[in-house]
Amino acid sequence: MFTTTRSILEEARRKRYAVAAFNVYSMETVQAAVAVSERLRQPVIIALGERYFDTVDVEAFSAFVKVIAEKAGIPVALHLDHAYEKQSIIRAIRCGFGSVMYDGSKYPLEENIRRTKEMVEIAHMAGVSVEAEIGSLARGAFSDEEEGSGALTDPDSARAFVQETGVDFLAAAIGTVHGMYTGEPNIDIPLLGRIRQAVDVPLVLHGGSGTPDDKIRDSIANGICKINVNTEVSMAAVAYLKTIGESDKLPHLSNVMADMQAAMEQSMEKFVKLFSGL
Ligand code: 13P
Repeated sequence: MFTTTRSILEEARRKRYAVAAFNVYSMETVQAAVAVSERLRQPVIIALGERYFDTVDVEAFSAFVKVIAEKAGIPVALHLDHAYEKQSIIRAIRCGFGSVMYDGSKYPLEENIRRTKEMVEIAHMAGVSVEAEIGSLARGAFSDEEEGSGALTDPDSARAFVQETGVDFLAAAIGTVHGMYTGEPNIDIPLLGRIRQAVDVPLVLHGGSGTPDDKIRDSIANGICKINVNTEVSMAAVAYLKTIGESDKLPHLSNVMADMQAAMEQSMEKFVKLFSGL
């Protein structure tokens, strides 16, 4: 069933679990995310980042996701991840995305508030929910995201940000990184608890890849209900592709795509189980 991120997150918040938002870049990534979630009977958020607009035809892609979602026996939502441009947000809204993330985290707080508020006004006129971020994730290994400052979210700023912008979901920076950790992860769960006290919207954790299971569980216990995952799934697919390069055989592309999807499903399964408490 094709549904909205809002309805998926309201349910997750009530029942105290988190939903995976898988970054996708192809038919196979979408099929893998939906197949795994259907097998485990869990909702899923399909997240397309603005950075993939160059390689993915957004109009065709969103039509494809809607068809897959309608055929699925679980709730499936379509979300725009890390958008920096107003045009991308409007394009996603026109394509039927149920939620968009405006990322103004590189700006000072007042500027981030001003810009985010404008995006919220536009999106809400179309009935679309908005996620935004204050604080900024650093970039670890193998990530495809922008390098952030690594600044953590200040709870008082979070309160002001949510009040003034009217955002629907808040991405909290508590020490996770985009990509794999290069040292010991330093994730501040007590800070998340204070952010939870300060704001009353569903909280989002970026940087699911490589984050220790106990920190994921603690995050969910402290109000995280959407967790973004990109790098680890990509690594699983590329690790599979590397095995082909090492072989003398030249397999048919259709088989390569199917096996690559299976590799991604295996990686995604671990996250869906962990996030949903299965
Ligand atoms: P990872 O690449 O660390 O899984 O993070 C993904 C993410 O947060 C996308 O917004």
